[in-house]
Amino acid sequence: MFIVQITPELAPVAKVGGLADVVFGISNELEIRGNHVEIILPKYDCLRYDHIWGLCETYKDLWVPWYGGAIHCTVYFGFVHGRKCFFIEPHSSDNFFSRGCIYGFNDDVLRFAFFTRAAMEFLWKSGKNPEIIHCHDWQTALAPVFLFEIYKFLGMTHPRVCFTIHNFKHQGVTGAQVLQATGLNRPEYYFHYDRLRDNFNPHALNLMKAGVVYSNFVTTVSPRHASEAKDQGQGFGLEPTLHIHHVKYGGVVNGIDYNMWNPEIDHHIPHRYGVDHIDEKYKNKKALRGRLMIADNEKPIVAFVGRLDPQKGLELIRHAIFYTLYRRGQFVLLGSSPNGQINSYFWSLKHQLNDNPDCHIEIGFNEELSHLIYAGADIMLVPSQFEPCGLTQLIAMRYGTIPVVREVGGLADTVFDKDYSYKPLHERNGYVFKDYDYSGLESALGRALSCYYDYPEHFRELMKNAMRYDYSWKNPGQDYLNIYDLIREK
Ligand code: ADP
Ligand code: GLC
Repeated sequence: MFIVQITPELAPVAKVGGLADVVFGISNELEIRGNHVEIILPKYDCLRYDHIWGLCETYKDLWVPWYGGAIHCTVYFGFVHGRKCFFIEPHSSDNFFSRGCIYGFNDDVLRFAFFTRAAMEFLWKSGKNPEIIHCHDWQTALAPVFLFEIYKFLGMTHPRVCFTIHNFKHQGVTGAQVLQATGLNRPEYYFHYDRLRDNFNPHALNLMKAGVVYSNFVTTVSPRHASEAKDQGQGFGLEPTLHIHHVKYGGVVNGIDYNMWNPEIDHHIPHRYGVDHIDEKYKNKKALRGRLMIADNEKPIVAFVGRLDPQKGLELIRHAIFYTLYRRGQFVLLGSSPNGQINSYFWSLKHQLNDNPDCHIEIGFNEELSHLIYAGADIMLVPSQFEPCGLTQLIAMRYGTIPVVREVGGLADTVFDKDYSYKPLHERNGYVFKDYDYSGLESALGRALSCYYDYPEHFRELMKNAMRYDYSWKNPGQDYLNIYDLIREK
């Protein structure tokens, strides 16, 4: 099958969060299974160019319709760890993708609407005829609208669209100018409840809703979150739309790329290990302590790696730091936020704890350090308010680091409590709590720490259980192929 991914992020060249890992991982898996995959993304100035091989101009004169005129673009081709990628570079005074980072600008909606229109224009002009276009989150949600309202009438009748929602919180709610800009010329038609009109604000358009309405299939990234979003108020206003379109909606748990995340071959960690030689993990723990200059002692290390966003449970993360120190553990945090207030909150926490030899707070994005943390920590904390899937608990398990998670979304679908799960003992792989409050967190983190201190053999069994789980792309890869098969033109 010929599949095109249209995406705002791709690991490791343009990564903000898990979406980037997912697009890379699924593309790899689909190729391994004999499909042809091409990936289209913006040519950001902040791409990790050291991970792109053979970058060259492939399409010099792509003119993309914009506000009744057109913007001249160049399309580049290159390989990212073996995957075929096309990078779109517009030449206009707006500098859409030359701003030093991926998101965070007032005109983000226009930037990504432009990118999506450019990606579709490129597919059409270059005569590509994929069976499947797979697009991701609000940034690329206009792809099926452009396909079925414009390009279909220009002869592009073949592709079907799968739209994956990674995060309902950000929907691309915007004014009418996006219609004018992209050449969707009938505002009264698009401003309709059945199409792009926002469910709350009759004067706004909602790009994520457009993706749900126009795509042939819509997924979110775990079955639990699929029902939370549709039926339990976690759809951030899209609940009625998901109900209307429920027959083409479902959840597929993400995988992680087992070549990128594998303690047996990971070149970011000093000591390789696996489930049968797990003791080497403790050498990485020592290396992590050396790197972060925290005390070398018998204590367990609890870690958090992630975006410092309210979604991730910021109050509970803060509480967990003090609770862990009180329970004689060590805490390591690696995170960043585009929000200045949140960043300075964590900076002041860092200063407050500066002299504590059992704690390290690292503010920033650091892929390489994250590998050492997954390998060196004993416990990985994910206390999210909501979590569509979550990758950090999956990566942690792969590295024998025990997840302590809140029972929501993909966390609930992938972590099974050591003491309370309905699963047989050998399939339990972590600790889970329900209520979003301090006592909920303490109940699970406390049990994890007690097990570490008092029953080291049980803790070790739990580590092995976690490492044996298969959270690779094998199963989700098949699930997506089944979806593509279901919707493609036969
Ligand atoms: P989300 O997509 O909501 O941010 P996920 O758990 O799905 O959360 O994915 C987060 C991904 O980003 C993981 O690969 C994680 O290791 C990585 N990550 C998040 N923050 C950082 C950081 N500050 N430094 C390095 N990697 C990070
Ligand atoms: C989102 C979600 C996260 C998910 C990731 C990849 O950003 O917050 O739960 O794992 O996308 O799908």
